[in-house]
Amino acid sequence: MSKAIQIAVVGSGYVGLVAAVCFAEMGHDVICVDNDERKVAALQGGDTLIHESYLPELLERYRNTKVRFMTDLAEATRSCEAIFIAVGTPQSETGDADLSYVEAVACEIARSLTTYKVIVEKSTVPVYTNEWIRRAIERNGVARELFDVVSNPEFLREGTAVADFLHPDRIVVGANNDRAAAVLSDIYAPLTGGSYYQRADAIAGPCSAVEPPQLLLTSTKSAEIIKHASNAFLALKISFINAVSNLCEAADANVEQVAKGMGLDSRIGPKFLRPGIGYGGSCFPKDVAAFRSVAEQLGIDFNLLTEVEKINAQQKKRFLSKVRSALWTLRGKRIGVLGLAFKGETDDIRESPAIELVQMLMAEGCSIVAYDPAAMKRTAEVLPESPQLRYALDSYAAADDADALVILTDWAEFAALDLDRLNKTLRYPIMIDGRNLFDPQIMAERGFTYISTGRPATYPVRDPLAAEA
Ligand code: UDX
Repeated sequence: MSKAIQIAVVGSGYVGLVAAVCFAEMGHDVICVDNDERKVAALQGGDTLIHESYLPELLERYRNTKVRFMTDLAEATRSCEAIFIAVGTPQSETGDADLSYVEAVACEIARSLTTYKVIVEKSTVPVYTNEWIRRAIERNGVARELFDVVSNPEFLREGTAVADFLHPDRIVVGANNDRAAAVLSDIYAPLTGGSYYQRADAIAGPCSAVEPPQLLLTSTKSAEIIKHASNAFLALKISFINAVSNLCEAADANVEQVAKGMGLDSRIGPKFLRPGIGYGGSCFPKDVAAFRSVAEQLGIDFNLLTEVEKINAQQKKRFLSKVRSALWTLRGKRIGVLGLAFKGETDDIRESPAIELVQMLMAEGCSIVAYDPAAMKRTAEVLPESPQLRYALDSYAAADDADALVILTDWAEFAALDLDRLNKTLRYPIMIDGRNLFDPQIMAERGFTYISTGRPATYPVRDPLAAEA
């Protein structure tokens, strides 16, 4: 039986909140601190604030018992053995990560630190942040032997955050001494030792008692670089397949066949080879920029990352051109939009390529009727309804009388739409699919002009234009 550890998690965003409830699920006692009083009150009352599988259940199970929410970082520091910093590291104007929240938290921790603590960076931060946190704490008068700073990057994806946390591919712990490493090993012991997976009520996922996740111990700097390098590499994989998909379009080949052929090579692997409208979200755009900036500061030529960003930006423009060439002219056209979130199964719209495309279509003079299963409320906060933009109650209402339907987010519910009903609802059965949710042949049989990504366009089977094309 692993021992319960007193843990503080500072920040109740995606990473902080998920980490807090998952640590409780692993048997620890957690204080989750946020300086936003309204957020703390909402969490105490059971509102998760974000759309994430298993989060409502875990919050219900542990809130105000094994996970307490508060604004008082001093109290949390005094009563906990390990303090995880999971506050935001937004992108500054130069592309660097803005570390002012991390610094403020480090200084505040220092003011209440009287017995030995392990301070853990969980936020994605550039290499050397660990040392800066240590210096900031020392400058505030804390003796060096009273604390250690450890890097423990988080790799969870939105939408599957809880399952990713409890069934990680790996747990990376960057620590520069055994004492601090041992605290982190104890915290993760229910996972690495496999006991969590033996529980009847364990959240399901790929790890098991027989194959528990591995804890990789590294230096603090290596751990910091592992996080940035992993995200940059995944973004690179997406930009690579997007470039290949453009080449497939030019050569009349099929990117899905190409990606399958590449992915079967175990050195490449099949994941993150889905072409689309470019990556978005709160991590990839920010982390690629931050990693590029770190490389620059260290005098390393990493122009590859600039190309990754360039391809990603072009991918959105390319999609817009596809809509234009499908409709001839855009001004005054009515477009049904399916999807606003940056990817399916989440309500997050941060850096969403879908939102950018909606704005680009509106700038071209289109009127938009948009639908997203979870992200409309958030979108309406930045793009309020207007004569040019309306939000629909469902996919069919978005398609109603539209000149074309565009798919911008890969929600599973869109892939299950009734195609005959959609066809009848649209003014013209034209679909431009940025996420390749449908089989082009089936779309042709169902009477659609179907333009997707990296695959030949298909036309209604009985359309006379198809014979010419
Ligand atoms: C990512 C990382 O996967 C995760 O490890 C890290 O902790 C945080 O950043 P997340 O932002 O939740 O997670 O989303 P992810 O599923 O990785 O997708 C990121 C973007 O890439 C989305 O816009 C998605 O649509 C796009 N994507 C992903 C593709 O376009 N093609 C793919 O093959 C995969």
